[in-house]
Amino acid sequence: MKKVVVTGGAGFIGSNLVQAYKSHGFEVIVVDNLTTGKLENIPNDIKFYEMDIRNPQFIEIILKEQPDIINHHAAQIDVQFSIQNPIEDASINILGTINVLESLRQIKEIKNCNLIYASSAAAYGNPSYLGVDEKHSTNPISFYGSSKLSPEMYIKIFHDLYAIPYSIFRYANVYGIGQDPKGEGGVISILVDRIVNNSLFTLYGDGEQTRDFIFVQDIVNANLIASEHPINDTCNISTNIPTTLHDLIRVAEDVIERKIEIEYEEERPGDIKYSYLTCQKAESLLSWKPKYTLHEGLKATINHYNSRKK
Ligand SMILES: NC(=O)c1ccc[n+]([C@@H]2O[C@H](COP(=O)([O-])OP(=O)(O)OC[C@H]3O[C@@H](n4cnc5c(N)ncnc54)[C@H](O)[C@@H]3O)[C@@H](O)[C@H]2O)c1
Repeated sequence: MKKVVVTGGAGFIGSNLVQAYKSHGFEVIVVDNLTTGKLENIPNDIKFYEMDIRNPQFIEIILKEQPDIINHHAAQIDVQFSIQNPIEDASINILGTINVLESLRQIKEIKNCNLIYASSAAAYGNPSYLGVDEKHSTNPISFYGSSKLSPEMYIKIFHDLYAIPYSIFRYANVYGIGQDPKGEGGVISILVDRIVNNSLFTLYGDGEQTRDFIFVQDIVNANLIASEHPINDTCNISTNIPTTLHDLIRVAEDVIERKIEIEYEEERPGDIKYSYLTCQKAESLLSWKPKYTLHEGLKATINHYNSRKK
């Protein structure tokens, strides 16, 4: 049985990963400090360390548990927080990841442990062309983008120096079950919340801005493949499909078979206008393709929250 440590396993993507690893027969261990993650997201039979990834004891846990894979999803993910608190943001995302890498370096003497790192489209900044591929320049426009990009370089250097196997995934806009609509939740989690609670949806901008929405189960599938076959490379995990917010609302209305009430507000400064990422590299490196249409992913998400409300 393969053993995986999921950092951030109490969070949105991490908890979906934990479920999937469990059902694929992995032994799963979660490390999370519960800043945004929730204890209820962790199944009872999963070993859980409530710990900050920057804690030197994290290395002791890895040496003790000897996992085959560290799936590193713990991060500070709030762009506005990063702008107001660049030191704390960098401390969690950069120094935290270096601590994870240090644990991989130390365990290397005992076993070959494979790293998966959740990076972000925020590493690219404002696209200079569409769809954004991995050759696109990296010019983050927030400290968050910068603190997600910087560890990519550390990972490559740790790989070159210590032959640590790795996969770096730059995710597009992930949505699905378990995403928090409060605070900086993605637009879909906010939309789903308004649909389930029958309240007004606020759309910032003219609605013609595009995003690349990828369902969390597609993210999970890419992680499962990389858990067995590290790519030692960086690739986008995306759909290659630009969706305007107006398209998103139309698809959602189609799913719920009624109109969604919208109010328009001024575009927010710092929001990227057009974005979508190609996924050909992931297709060729991982033999992976996004499987879920926006309609299918939205339907699964809305149904989940509607049934919980009953
Ligand atoms: N959600 C997206 O659309 C998206 C897009 C691109 C990249 N990502 C990346 O995917 C990963 C997961 O994001 P998410 O959307 O699930 O966010 P999330 O906030 O739901 O999950 C992050 C988890 O990390 C934990 N955490 C935060 N700081 C920690 C620390 N110092 N020590 C230990 N645990 C800590 C939180 O408690 C939480 O459980 C992040 O690395 C994020 O940068 C997410």
